[in-house]
Formats: sequence, C-alpha cells, structure tokens
Amino acid sequence: MSTLREPLLRVAGLQKLFPIRKGFLKRTVGYVRAVDGVGFHIDEGETLGLVGESGCGKTTTARCILRAIEPTAGEIFMRVSGGSVVEMGRLRRAELRALRREMQMIFQDPFTSLNPRMTLLDLVGEPLLVHGMKSRREREDRVADLLRRVGLRPEYMRRFPHAFSGGERQRIGIARALALHPRLVVADEPVSALDVSVQAQILNLLFDLQADFRLTYLFVAHDLSVVRYISNRVAVMYVGRIVELAETDEIFNAPKHPYTAALLSAVPEPDPRTRSRRIVLQGEVANPASPPPGCYFHPRCPHAIEVCRTQAPAWQEISRGHFVSCHRAYELHLAGVD
Ligand SMILES: Nc1ncnc2c1ncn2[C@@H]1O[C@H](COP(=O)(O)OP(=O)(O)O)[C@@H](O)[C@H]1O
Ligand code: SF4
Ligand SMILES: [Mg+2]
Repeated sequence: MSTLREPLLRVAGLQKLFPIRKGFLKRTVGYVRAVDGVGFHIDEGETLGLVGESGCGKTTTARCILRAIEPTAGEIFMRVSGGSVVEMGRLRRAELRALRREMQMIFQDPFTSLNPRMTLLDLVGEPLLVHGMKSRREREDRVADLLRRVGLRPEYMRRFPHAFSGGERQRIGIARALALHPRLVVADEPVSALDVSVQAQILNLLFDLQADFRLTYLFVAHDLSVVRYISNRVAVMYVGRIVELAETDEIFNAPKHPYTAALLSAVPEPDPRTRSRRIVLQGEVANPASPPPGCYFHPRCPHAIEVCRTQAPAWQEISRGHFVSCHRAYELHLAGVD
C-alpha cells in the first residue's frame, strides 16, 4: 500500500561540502566532498540499510537528514503526521522543531552519547520534559514503560549510565530515542561498538520495536552482514555517493557493483571451503577532498577499463528497483553470497 503513497522520507541531490581552511587568514583552499549527490527514499515501516567503509559519508548523510547540520545543497522531503509532504529546508524554526520530534537518532557509541551525570529517569525523561510533560509522576510512569519495552527493569531508573554494560547503555539510548514516539529513527552504527554476542540482541530489539511502534529505520553500518538481517533494501555508499541500491536479497545474491561485491567478500564466511573466493579490497578509500577522475572506485576496482578512468558512470536502473552506477554493470558477473 505504501507504494501508492508518498514515501515517508525522500532525499534528493543531497550534498555536504566541508571547507578546508589553511594559513593565517584561514582561507578556503578546497572542500571535503563528504556527501555529493545522494538520493533515496524510505517507505513507511521500511528499513533502508546504508553501508560503506568508514569516511564515505554515512554519518554526514544522517546528520543532514536530521538537520543537525545544514546541507550545502539538496532537498529532504518528509511526509508528516497529517499526511502532507514538507521540504525540510523550507520550514521555519518552530515548524522544524515540531518535525524533529518525529525523527530521532540512535548513536554509535553508547559510552559517550549518554550524559554520565544524568540518571536513567532524566536521560529518558528529558525529551518528554522538553516537549511539555511537566508532571514528574507522569514522566516516571512513561520512563518505566519505555525501560520495560527495551528490556530494562524500571527499578533501574535512579541509576547512572556507568552502572550498565555496553548493550544495556544502547538500550537506554534506544529508550530515549523512542520517548517522543518518532516515526523515523536514524540508527548510526548502533551495534558497531558492541561485542558480537550483544549485537544480535540489540538488532532483535530494534526489529521488535519496529513492529510495536510502527517505526521506519535508516540503518547505518560499515558491515553488510549487520544490515542483512534488518533491512528491506540496502544502499551502498562510496566516497560521498550511492553506487548501488536494491532489495536486500538482490544486493547479497546478485550484486552489480564491484564495490558491493568486494564488501560482500569481506562478510564472514562460515564455510572455510568457500573462503578462498574472497576478493580483498586493495588500497585506500579515495580522499573525498580530491577524488579521482571518472569512477571514484577505479583505482581499486579489479574490473576497471579505460572509460572508468575518465568518465563518471551514470546512475541507472538495471532491473526493477535495482540501481547501480558502473560502466560495466550489464556485462560483469559478480559473485554474491547465498
Ligand atoms: N565537521 C567536519 N568537518 C570536516 N570534515 C568532516 C566533518 N565531518 C565529517 N567530515 C569528513 O567527511 C567525510 C565523511 O565523514 P562521515 O560522514 O563521518 O563518514 P562515515 O560516517 O561514513 O564514516 C570524511 O572524510 C570526514 O573526515
Ligand atoms: S565503472 Fe569501472 S571502475 Fe567503476 S566500478 Fe564499474 S568497472 Fe569498476
Ligand atoms: Mg559514521
């Protein structure tokens, strides 16, 4: 049904350049092209995974969407509770504040993202207070309920975050993000800092909460194996751009971009007989302050040909809902994983 409606979020031509300043006068000598022409949509109730190596612009994309930073260019459309679609850049301050309630972020590092001097009651209750829930009693009830929903005991409410493990702190962060009933949750590498054994528990929790609260997720990760479980579709980012986007099974079974195939080959393979097929990513991620000409991936791509060095590949829909930017997308047969 949601396909007939406007998506919950639509991002078009998003760009964020950070100036590089040098010398005594701090003159701008160049720009870090952190995000450079990113577009995608997320339907209501859907999870879009956003994946790529460190430094490719995932966090910058997330922060632009939440208007934690101002994009250099591009548009971000959000379908608000009433059903109408607003472009965030055109909103007045008060309108933006109201909309922010509907969009919340879960952060990567549960150790630094929670104020150590606040109790769980204050941490989770603060957004409620800021948005007008003045009664302490009411806040306590609501916080108790939220703690229960994320698998923590309400009796812990008066404790401070240092008393909790990494996984528990992430649960606190999730409770705080959910306090105002957001519709869109941007989770920026929410399990990257956690032990592998705890990662699955947090992913399960996010999955259950999505159904309970009718949440829509933008789920950021540097590891494809993490997004597989939770995402309906996956967007693969490289040096400020999306290079491939498709349904999760398509991305894993039939990748069309050599970078996606390389990331897939880094996914832990349980069967040692197939491990030797791995392609190891050679070289460094291109510098977003001076990306190479042509396809940004060409210095690392095992399939690069002459045209890749000079011309940027176009973004094309290779099959229904499967988008890729690679000159050789139609001819290459890349290995996926089952
Ligand atoms: N505030 C900033 N000032 C200058 N450069 C930045 C800033 N934030 C991020 N960058 C640069 O932008 C690029 C993308 O960063 P980021 O969005 O954090 O990537 P990711 O989350 O994928 O690791 C990197 O090269 C990073 O160094
Ligand atoms: S356009 Fe060329 S260099 Fe870029 S990913 Fe495709 S084959 Fe590789
Ligand atoms: Mg990041």
